[in-house]
Amino acid sequence: MAFPDQFILELKQNNPIDSVMSSYVSLIRRGRNCVCLCPFHSEKSPSCTVYLDSDPHFYCFGCGAGGDVITFIMKIENLDYVEAIKFLADRAGMTMPDEAKNNEASRIKARVLEINRTAARFFHNTLAKSPDGEKGRRYFAERQLSPATITKYGLGYAPDDWYKLSNYMRSKGFTEDELVTANLCGRGRNGGIYDSFRDRVMFPIIDLRGNVIAFGGRIIDGSGPKYLNSSDTPVFKKSRNLFSLNFAKKTDEKRLILAEGYMDVIAINQAGFENVVATLGTALTQEQARLMSQYAEEIIIAYDSDGAGQNATHKAINLLSEVGVRTKIIHMEGAKDPDEYIKKFGASRFKQLLDKSGGAIEFELEKCKNGLNVDTDDGKIEYLKRCVNVISDISSPIEREVYIGRLAETNRVNKDMLLQQVEGTIKRRINKAKNQEWTEIRTFQKQYKSNPDSYRHPKEFKAEVGIIAYLAANPDETEYVSSKVSPEQFVTEFNRKVYQVMLEKIKKSAFSDIHSLQSEFSADEMGKITEIAVNSKDVNINKTAVDDFINILSSSADNSVDIKDMSNDDFLKYIQNLKNKK
Ligand code: GTP
Ligand code: MN
Repeated sequence: MAFPDQFILELKQNNPIDSVMSSYVSLIRRGRNCVCLCPFHSEKSPSCTVYLDSDPHFYCFGCGAGGDVITFIMKIENLDYVEAIKFLADRAGMTMPDEAKNNEASRIKARVLEINRTAARFFHNTLAKSPDGEKGRRYFAERQLSPATITKYGLGYAPDDWYKLSNYMRSKGFTEDELVTANLCGRGRNGGIYDSFRDRVMFPIIDLRGNVIAFGGRIIDGSGPKYLNSSDTPVFKKSRNLFSLNFAKKTDEKRLILAEGYMDVIAINQAGFENVVATLGTALTQEQARLMSQYAEEIIIAYDSDGAGQNATHKAINLLSEVGVRTKIIHMEGAKDPDEYIKKFGASRFKQLLDKSGGAIEFELEKCKNGLNVDTDDGKIEYLKRCVNVISDISSPIEREVYIGRLAETNRVNKDMLLQQVEGTIKRRINKAKNQEWTEIRTFQKQYKSNPDSYRHPKEFKAEVGIIAYLAANPDETEYVSSKVSPEQFVTEFNRKVYQVMLEKIKKSAFSDIHSLQSEFSADEMGKITEIAVNSKDVNINKTAVDDFINILSSSADNSVDIKDMSNDDFLKYIQNLKNKK
C-alpha cells in the first residue's frame, strides 16, 4: 500500500518519535538525543537510543530493534504497516487518504467488528426479550445482576442451539468464512459451520473505542470449560486487552482495581466502583501491566483468596512493579472472591477492604506463613527465615528497619539479630551478583580478545562488525555500502581485511556466504569471522542501523580510548560500560 509522500511526511511531523515513545517508556534526554530502556527486550541499563535529528529514529544496541516512528508502532502495538499508519493518523487527528480504505486487511477487520457488533446485539436481545433467553435471565437474576448492569455491559445469552446464530448472521449478509474468522463459528467436518457459543451467558469484550472485539461465554450447566473465550482474531489479542477498561478509563481515579474474572468485575462495578478491570482468561501479561500503568498510579489487586489466586497475585505484583506502578493487595476473609464478598457483606465493607489494602511487602510477608505452623519452633524459624529474604529485597534502609521492627515485635525476637540476618543476606546477594558480573565480563573479554584493537576502539569495532554482518546478509547492498565507506576507514586491522576481501569477492560474484572467505583466511581467522556472523544472527541489522555504523566510521572523531594507563578499577568500569553498550 503506497501512501503519498506528503501524507507520510505530515504523519511523522505530527507524531514526533520522542512524544510517541514516551507513552511506552521513560525517555532520558542525553544531549540532542534520548536514551531509554529498550521496550523490546528486558534490560536494566538503557541501550536504546532515540535520535532526534532530521530523520528521527530509534535503535537498540542491545537487541538491534530500530526504525522510525511507524516501525516503532508496528512493533510495539503489533500492527501491520497500514494499521500503524492508521494508529498514528488517529493519534494526530489526521484523516487517512482514501486508498487505505481499500486495503484487504482493514476490510476484514471492519467486517469482523461488524459481525461482533451484530452478534452482541443478537445475544443481548435473546437475553432481554426472547423466549430462548429465559435460562440466561434466570441465571443472571440468581447472580443478582440488575437490569441496568446487564444493559451497561451489554450482556447476552447464546441459545442452546448449533445454528441459531449462524443462520441469523447469514441472513444479515455475513459469509461463512467471515464468521469463522471472527471465531463466532467453527467449521465442522462436513464443511458446514456451527455456532461456537451455545447455551452460555455472554460477556462482550469492548475496546477503548467502543468496538466489540471478542466474547467470553460462561456455561450455565452441562459439560465443557466453565468459561469459553474467543481466541485471537484480526481484531482481538487476549494478551493486550483488559475487560471493562472502557469503563474504568472514564473515571478520574488514579487507582485501578484488578480482579480475576468477568463476574468479579461486574459485581464490583455494580457495587459502585467503576475503576476495575480483569484479564481475559489468562494470567496478567507484561503488555497488560503496561496498559494499566498508562491509566493508574496504583493498582489494587483483588484476586481470589484461594491458593491459585494468591500465586497469581505474587506474579502480578512483580509484573506491575516492573512497569513502575505501586501495588496494593486486598486481604479478603470469609469469601472466595470479590463477587461473593460483596454479596455477603455489602459494598461498604468492600470499600473498607479497598481502603485497608496492604502494600506488596505485607502481602509477601503474610505469604511466608503458607504451609507452616508458626506456633511451633520449627515453623517459626522457617517463617522468620523466609521473612528475612523478603525484607532483604527492599532497597530502602528505612523501610527495611520498619519491617524488621514490626517483625521482631510480633514474633518476640531480638531486632538486632534480624537486622544482622538481613544485612548478611544482602551482602551475600551482592557478592553473588558481582561474581555473575565477572563471569559475564570474562565472556565478553574473550570476544574482544580475538581483535585486540577492539579494546581501544569499541565504538568503531562495533560499527565494523555490524557492517560486515549486514553485508554478509545483504550482498545486494555492496554497491551502496562500499560507496559510503572504504576499507581504509576501518579502524581495526582484522575487520579491515575482512571487509576488503568481502568486497572483492562480492564484486567477482564469488561470495555466497561468509564461508566463501575461507580461501583467504586461516582456520583461526575463520573462527573469528564466523563469530561475527553468529553473534549478529539474531540481531536484525537494518539499513538505518548500517547508516549509523557508516557514520561512525566516516566521522573524523577520535573515539579511541587509552587503556594502558588505566587503573584496575577504571579498567573494570570501562569493560562494564562496553558490556552495557553492547
Ligand atoms: P464465576 O464462577 O462465574 O463466579 O466465575 P469467576 O469470575 O469466579 O471465575 P473463576 O474464578 O472461576 O475464573 C476467573 C476467570 O478465569 C474467569 O473470568 C475466566 O476469564 C477465566 N476462566 C475460568 N474458567 C475458565 C475456563 O474453563 N477456561 C478459560 N479459558 N478461562 C477460564
Ligand atoms: Mn466467582
